[in-house]
Amino acid sequence: MKIRHWIISLAALGCAASAWAQQSPIVIKFSHVVATDTPKGKAAEYFKKLAEERTKGRVKVQVYANSVLYKDKEEMEALQLGAVQVLAPTFSKFGPLGVREFEVFDLPYLFDSFEEAHKVTQGPVGKNLLNRLSVKGVAGLAFWDNAFKQITANKPLRKPEDFRGVKIRIQPSKVVDAQFRTLGANPQVLAFSEVYQALQTGVVDAQDNPFSNIDTQKFYEVQKYLMVSNHGYHAYVLIANKKFWDGLPPDIRQIMDGVVRDTTQYFNSIAQKDDQDALAHIKATGKTQIITLTKEEKNALKKAMVKVHRDFESQIGKELIQSIYRETGFDPDKL
Ligand code: LMR
Repeated sequence: MKIRHWIISLAALGCAASAWAQQSPIVIKFSHVVATDTPKGKAAEYFKKLAEERTKGRVKVQVYANSVLYKDKEEMEALQLGAVQVLAPTFSKFGPLGVREFEVFDLPYLFDSFEEAHKVTQGPVGKNLLNRLSVKGVAGLAFWDNAFKQITANKPLRKPEDFRGVKIRIQPSKVVDAQFRTLGANPQVLAFSEVYQALQTGVVDAQDNPFSNIDTQKFYEVQKYLMVSNHGYHAYVLIANKKFWDGLPPDIRQIMDGVVRDTTQYFNSIAQKDDQDALAHIKATGKTQIITLTKEEKNALKKAMVKVHRDFESQIGKELIQSIYRETGFDPDKL
């Protein structure tokens, strides 16, 4: 090829690149409800970093943490309207979207370890569940495995009967509602951003969350006791507005799929240590008494709560529940 042609081609390439770079950026609003110094908060910032670096600025990510843009229920509505493009709610928040299957993960004591949970969330059962979101205009991108849930309250809650009459804040999950009602408690759905004040003013007496949320929201300041119960699994579902995500230019979409993959790997690599660091910090404050349930106490609570597995077979799907039992080897009849 003549030198002249090379020069013309390189100039054209340069113009295309600068034109490509000068096009107005694709803006991704990423809203979430937790503090930045949590696994989800850090992962949202990591997602932003990778997306902006790898697309050379063609994508701009605006992260809105701690419910500053939208609270719990609002954020899911905003995503469906396209007012935000990416969220990472807990699977407990998918009930109002009408995707009841996600509440399978709320079944108490479904998993005994991260390994069991990862088999499901990072395996075929999880992938199938993500695909089910598309009918709601939502692109299910990934599961972010966070931690196990613990209970904070203003009195020790060791035995099932201790829960009688306790007003406990819960996420908007029918399964979680049922598991605490089965103990005689009085579950109240509240947005995550309202929990601290509700505990402080006595609107509710208790709540359940992983250590990282208990720590970063300072629930230990307004809760006398923290029961290490590991009674439920806490994970996030990274989702996007499906019309937006499917409408990304193919080259950008390929980059963003890699950003999702690498951010998920990052999240899953920091979550367990963050959870233990949060427990250590809560202990260091000395502001709440930490109660680790004995094996007998945990088994009694497990037996009392696990009844809801059967109760939700028709709503969640018996086959879906059985498929998770097959992956983990869990058998509620052998408790
Ligand atoms: C909650 O209790 O609402 C939190 O677990 C939410 C979250 O995103 O961690």
